[in-house]
Amino acid sequence: MNVLAIETSCDETAAAVVTDQLAVRANLVYSQIHRHQPYGGVVPEIAARAHVEVLPRLVQGALDQAGLTWDQVDRLAVTRGPGLASSLLVGLSAAKALALRLDRPLTAVHHLEGHLVSIFLGLGAPPASILPAVVLLVSGGHTCLLGVDAPGSYRLLGHTLDDAAGEALDKGSKLLGLGYPGGPALEKAARGGNVRAVAFPRGIGHAGEAGDDRIAFSFSGLKTSLLYYLRDHPLTPGTEAFRDVCASYQEAVVQSLIAGARCALERFPAVTLACAGGVARNGRLREALGTLASEQGLRLRMADPDYCTDHAAMIGAVAALGLGETVTDPATLDVRPTWPLGR
Ligand code: KG4
Ligand code: ZN
Repeated sequence: MNVLAIETSCDETAAAVVTDQLAVRANLVYSQIHRHQPYGGVVPEIAARAHVEVLPRLVQGALDQAGLTWDQVDRLAVTRGPGLASSLLVGLSAAKALALRLDRPLTAVHHLEGHLVSIFLGLGAPPASILPAVVLLVSGGHTCLLGVDAPGSYRLLGHTLDDAAGEALDKGSKLLGLGYPGGPALEKAARGGNVRAVAFPRGIGHAGEAGDDRIAFSFSGLKTSLLYYLRDHPLTPGTEAFRDVCASYQEAVVQSLIAGARCALERFPAVTLACAGGVARNGRLREALGTLASEQGLRLRMADPDYCTDHAAMIGAVAALGLGETVTDPATLDVRPTWPLGR
């Protein structure tokens, strides 16, 4: 089975072809970062217009790269949400039109479920080989901890109460004048810095509401703390003091995530500790998760760096695993900009 997948939830335009064995036959991503950089963040109107402009040639490119004709597409898959409404609408409209024209089923996919199954891509073994797992999903828009028994069967063990980890890095980077996207810029600027130079707060605790014992991250205080630190200690980029602040800030995000993951492992019997989403690209986080996994005698499964940030292969993989919502009448499908991951 060949799944043609489309992802346009934010500022990456993406198309891919994935088989039912989770082989990625094509995976094309057009990053719009340079179009948003002058504004210091994603501008929804620009993102949607760029999706309209780029998506048709990306879909054709994915088919060509996979060596398929339209007849050989067995199923369409598309991100339905969560994400920017206007961006989601472009991908969903394209997928609906293709499903109707080709008379093929269409699977609507939750973006976070896509990130989740990205840990299975490039594994070279069936997904079950690494389960049960505790999965840390860390992106620009989301941060959560999931206990996964089987593909499609998961428990929310923890989540963020405010900013996502990637958002905290993006906002911190902006305050430091490092630009967008902040995660990679901060990682570079933090290289060689002292992670203990500044004691930034680590936002980790419990949800606090009666009957809710889920792990709760909070990153909004961290960014405020950096704001006040910079007000009181003006810094010059490129200096040792600047590097130290970058390293300490990044470390506060990493150590909050590690503390949350440690807690999750106490609550969910796992053989694997896994991590996916854009922030999973971070070298310091990968190193710290590696240490935690070996301490606990667990296997570590990091999503392949090529599959961490947004792409469409993960959306196709959800459909290929028989997950997501397959609709018989694509015309009725609408976007879900806010869509809790509830299974
Ligand atoms: O998963 P993703 O592409 O988009 C969302 O679904 O949000 O994640 C984007 C996030 C951004 O916040 C970006 O700063 C972060 O991933 N990111 C990183 C790195 N590369 C991307 N964060 C830390 N270190 C990196 N190397
Ligand atoms: Zn994402």
